[in-house]
Amino acid sequence: MVAVVFIFRLLMVLVASCALATETDTARQQRMQWFQDAKLGIFVHWGIYAVDGIDESWSFYNGYVSYDDYLKQLDGFTAAKYDPQAWAALFARSGARYAVLTSKHHDGVALWNSEVSELDVVERTPAGRDLVGPFCKALRERDLKVGLYYSHLDWSHPDYPHWTREAKRYTDDPQRWARFLRFHRAQLEEIVTSYEPDLLWFDGDWDYGAERWQAGRLRERIDRWLPKVIVNSRLNGFGDYATPEQGLPITRPPEPWWELCLTMNDSWGYQPNDTNYKTANQVIRIFVDCLDMGGNLLLDVGPREDGTIPPEQVRILSELGRWIRKHDEAVYATRAGLPSGHFHGPTSLSADQKTLYLYVPHEPRGPLALKGIKNAVNRIRVVGNGTKLAWQIKMKQYWSSVPGIIYIDVPAQVLDEQVTVVAVLLDGPIELHREDADGAP
Ligand code: GLC
Repeated sequence: MVAVVFIFRLLMVLVASCALATETDTARQQRMQWFQDAKLGIFVHWGIYAVDGIDESWSFYNGYVSYDDYLKQLDGFTAAKYDPQAWAALFARSGARYAVLTSKHHDGVALWNSEVSELDVVERTPAGRDLVGPFCKALRERDLKVGLYYSHLDWSHPDYPHWTREAKRYTDDPQRWARFLRFHRAQLEEIVTSYEPDLLWFDGDWDYGAERWQAGRLRERIDRWLPKVIVNSRLNGFGDYATPEQGLPITRPPEPWWELCLTMNDSWGYQPNDTNYKTANQVIRIFVDCLDMGGNLLLDVGPREDGTIPPEQVRILSELGRWIRKHDEAVYATRAGLPSGHFHGPTSLSADQKTLYLYVPHEPRGPLALKGIKNAVNRIRVVGNGTKLAWQIKMKQYWSSVPGIIYIDVPAQVLDEQVTVVAVLLDGPIELHREDADGAP
């Protein structure tokens, strides 16, 4: 009987791995579609670290507080004013299409009622209830996709080897590691089957490689549980998209899908001492750079222990929302813009490649200049404002195939307070002229 079960399981694994390996490019594209079009997500770092306002998990790992003092925060975590509907409303107003909640950070404190761990907010904090389920429900009521962050490594679990206090004296123990993996799989199964997230946002795979984490097999399991789920890159090479953290890419990442995760100040969780907030203007301009390079922005909020979101963070989300609502056609479903050289500034293209969006962060002192566009221009207008703009073409020689420079006048009265967007409607999908100085293509 055991052998039959074993062979059956083996067959299931083989079938699943074939299915994964044979996912066609088109099927993959379809699975990734909502993510590619969404552009903005909200990251929520919420945990007991908000009680004292200290670094999430790292504060004890790095020795800034003792582990015991860190865990004392359990007693102060109330979630007393947690209103997931208000969160979802705020996120929707900010223009986000998905949100990702830290269901368990490196400290091991689960925000749901984990059957395989005693370290969860239901059993150990005054909050006393599941916080993940209501989050997922509220997002879905607003048509927002649900993402759950989960840290592979767990600095509270007795079987996790890199647990600070013993990191140096740990000797390899396969049984212990097997126990940890069983625990890890069991927790994942809990969140995946209870909440059916659209996105799994993993973290903390760095201590070991794919083999030790059995990342490939885990991915197969996840795909069996949730065939349409999207997984970020922190699964040792078995994810779907790249996850640059805090640093905006300078050149367009080679991956077809990527997402910049970014704090509003310099902290992921709530830290009242950290007042180094980016301005709404800076956030919008970073967002526009993500659009230019075909990526998403996952912008972080750090709620207080009671579940309220600090006003500085609400203000940034509100202004971002205003800007996105006004410019929605130049946000959702856009694709990466022009390669460098054609326009001095960020750009993006509509999905059909027939409209080019120019993002203008400053007040121009003269006309905008657009170079190397082979198409004829049908119309130019200011997005969210309706004003049609005049343009002139200069430097076009009748005997040369080099397109002229398109000069576009942008009068001061059409400028947005943050970033103005100009839509250039072309006569067909964009065609670029790219040639070096000698005329060689
Ligand atoms: C890092 C940090 C973690 C944070 C995460 C967000 O991996 O370890 O504290 O939650 O980045 O991207």
